[in-house]
Amino acid sequence: MKISVIGTGYVGLVTGTCLAESGNDVLCIDIDAHKVQQMQKGVVPIYEPHLDVLFQRNIKANRLNFSISLDEGLEHGEIIFLALPTPEDEDGSADLSYVLGAAKEIGKRIQNYKVIVDKSTVPVGTANKVTAAIAQETTVDFDVVSNPEFLREGFAVDDFLKPERIVIGSGSERAISLMQKLYKPFVRSGNPILIMDERSAELTKYAANAFLATKITFMNEIANFCEKVGADVDKVRVGMGTDSRIGKRFLFPGIGYGGSCFPKDVKALHKSGNDLDYTFNILDAVIKVNDIQKTILISRIEQYFKGDIKGRTFGIWGLAFKPETDDIREAPALYMIEELLSKGAQVHVFDPEAMANVKKKFGDSIVYVQNMYDATDNADALIISTEWSIFRTPDFNTLKKRLKQPVIFDGRNLYDVDDITKEGFYYSSIGRKRV
Ligand SMILES: NC(=O)c1ccc[n+]([C@@H]2O[C@H](COP(=O)([O-])OP(=O)(O)OC[C@H]3O[C@@H](n4cnc5c(N)ncnc54)[C@H](O)[C@@H]3O)[C@@H](O)[C@H]2O)c1
Repeated sequence: MKISVIGTGYVGLVTGTCLAESGNDVLCIDIDAHKVQQMQKGVVPIYEPHLDVLFQRNIKANRLNFSISLDEGLEHGEIIFLALPTPEDEDGSADLSYVLGAAKEIGKRIQNYKVIVDKSTVPVGTANKVTAAIAQETTVDFDVVSNPEFLREGFAVDDFLKPERIVIGSGSERAISLMQKLYKPFVRSGNPILIMDERSAELTKYAANAFLATKITFMNEIANFCEKVGADVDKVRVGMGTDSRIGKRFLFPGIGYGGSCFPKDVKALHKSGNDLDYTFNILDAVIKVNDIQKTILISRIEQYFKGDIKGRTFGIWGLAFKPETDDIREAPALYMIEELLSKGAQVHVFDPEAMANVKKKFGDSIVYVQNMYDATDNADALIISTEWSIFRTPDFNTLKKRLKQPVIFDGRNLYDVDDITKEGFYYSSIGRKRV
């Protein structure tokens, strides 16, 4: 099938590449001319495991192309995916200007029947708004489908190729049948394509993300309470997670959820409630607890150094909001860097993939090193903020030699408390004893 994807970011590029991989003829459109130029030269503009192989293969087979021209995109695709940003607006709502702006432009340009598929995460009612925005500009027949995306950065290719479910919100049999044909190769193992109305599809995405953010936040509160009562959150986590009603996943405490989705999606759902005089009390609490959790290591660092942070050096391992991505949107590390700089500290950072993005934000105000141990040279403490695998089994002797003093603040619980204590470190982690 001929597919166009408008917006070639983390979701759009993975969508376009994976749809090309299943034999479709895909044209990806982006407003960012530099990004499009890079992709035309065969450069993947983001870090996402396994994406490069599929990307190269499909470009070579001429099934995957890139352009900045929306006209070309609308000429090309019978199905047009919108994978555009829906960032947080000032009042917490989802900013729909990208999606509705594109809808208007689509309305001005379409010449024949198209299915417009909303893959962006959008509030309930957006499919109606997109329909209205297009219809205002054209009399050509079209359908709007809500098809929220559930991929996880770091596993995006796998998630797209083998989704646990595909949600399609539409009332049009014609559009549903085209979408089922498109997605059939991805559900050969029997996972469902769930057909529902647009509003339910739109809400499914927010409900899923808000639930996951709540699960993390609940565990963060349990972890904090563990410290008060002398319990070990690792033991509590396993004890809880073996109950199949609870499940083992998303029970790891840390320094708050971040990333490009959870923070904005929780706030957008909360705001949607407010707009309809409905208060999401749970989400209220989730937002508040997460804001506090983001500050937890900074308070501990201040406590440890008795407020004397100025002139000290801190090494940070991990900048991305989670491992296996270069995405730093709402990453806890950014918050910590800002706090440490504002208190007059020096910050030396290392991340396997995200340093270029962090440099765009912090420039030369922090030091970027190419080896994880270099970040600890003469540092007063090491802070761990992303659980990349390479941080899991460091050489503790090297660390001790390089750090000014053997002090680690670990926001991801990477090490066994007893082991690291025996190594002679002061070690502060989340929900476990501090020694
Ligand atoms: N990143 C994720 O893990 C993820 C997962 C599921 C859903 N989502 C949702 O998918 C949507 C896209 O997220 P993302 O992370 O891919 O965003 P992104 O910021 O990585 O990508 C968006 C792309 O759209 C381009 N763009 C902006 N305006 C444009 C326009 N008018 N025409 C063409 N291109 C334009 C940008 O240049 C950028 O390349 C959001 O609604 C997000 O909430 C994201």
